[in-house]
Amino acid sequence: MKKIGLLFGQENGFPQAFIDRVNDKQIDGITAEAISIEKVIQGTPSGYTVILDRISQDVPFYRTWLKQAALDGTAVINNPFWWSADDKFVNNELAHRTGVKVPKTALIPSRDLPLNTSDQSFRNLVYPFDWDAIFDHIGFPAYMKPYNGGGWKHVYKIHDREEFFAQHARTGQLVMMLQEEIKYQSYYRCYCIGGRYVRVIPYDPYQPENQRYLTEDSGDTTLLNTIADQVAQLNQYLGYDFNSVEIAIQNGVPYVIDFWNPAPETNEKVIGTENFEWVVETAATYAIQRAQQQTPGTDNLTWGNFLQHAIQGQQTAIVPGAKRVAAKKPTAVSPAKPPKDTKTLKEPKAPKVEEKETPARKTAVKKTKKKEE
Ligand SMILES: Nc1ncnc2c1ncn2[C@@H]1O[C@H](COP(=O)(O)OP(=O)(O)O)[C@@H](O)[C@H]1O
Ligand SMILES: [Mg+2]
Repeated sequence: MKKIGLLFGQENGFPQAFIDRVNDKQIDGITAEAISIEKVIQGTPSGYTVILDRISQDVPFYRTWLKQAALDGTAVINNPFWWSADDKFVNNELAHRTGVKVPKTALIPSRDLPLNTSDQSFRNLVYPFDWDAIFDHIGFPAYMKPYNGGGWKHVYKIHDREEFFAQHARTGQLVMMLQEEIKYQSYYRCYCIGGRYVRVIPYDPYQPENQRYLTEDSGDTTLLNTIADQVAQLNQYLGYDFNSVEIAIQNGVPYVIDFWNPAPETNEKVIGTENFEWVVETAATYAIQRAQQQTPGTDNLTWGNFLQHAIQGQQTAIVPGAKRVAAKKPTAVSPAKPPKDTKTLKEPKAPKVEEKETPARKTAVKKTKKKEE
């Protein structure tokens, strides 16, 4: 029997729905359950063919256990090695190479010294940093946000250099990014599962949490197809199996804003019943596919195209805006119908999604006189 295990945290709803959906399909030799760990000892197999990981970003103990499971042949969704290695700044850098547009972005050293460091640890940093060049390049207004954050924590809209230094002074040891503002006319949140199944959801970040996922889209099929295509490209390039991507449309041009959400929001009350149904069905179908493809004792993880190319010694585009990498076509675009329940395994029919947050507008603070040091 091939077992699909779910590793999850505080969320309710999705975990049981996912497990039930896999089991309701009654696929021969495949079953799903909530993972139960009572000890972790080297050399001991996890017992799972596939694991869907919804929580290791918050629990380092789980992350390491998942790596052990992966070394033993478990297909872990998402790849715990890659998820440990990347961050938003790196992903922006990589996104360029798929041909999608990302906002201009600069990396900012943390305001406070990291633990166990002193000024002596930073003798390679030029002081003061070349702020003028950074501000000239990014422009104002800009967004300042952590290089590895989520849930709108420490996301600030910044209007000028004084406000930048005042806000930066409040970010402690966080490494931040300063990013060009995209003045968008419409905004989408997109689920991507298996680097291929895409659901594009019109989204209004400034509505109350449970009203942000909209049901009406622009009806512009060309745009929706472009978005779905870019989302699939990006996830195949980065190697994420289960992710959500935020895309802002400025003058008809999509910019990817946030695409590092490997445990995307699945609360039915937040994302709505149709999106919830799509995620449950698509995730269950995909996990079954991965279980059927899994070969024990081998590497069953997904690795991004760019890593595969690097390993195979192929030439990869390294110039921003370079040619797109070849990607599998996405299978569907918004607006989507919930897939029908079926006993035989079929590809999911539709696309869209993701997280908890507080609108950035509210986090903008008044300017202070405080200057950088
Ligand atoms: N460069 C940007 N241009 C315009 N809006 C932005 C930009 N960056 C962030 N935002 C706004 O702030 C919100 C939160 O930022 P995001 O990058 O998604 O961080 P998080 O990962 O914490 O959700 C976005 O949903 C968007 O509304
Ligand atoms: Mg976001």
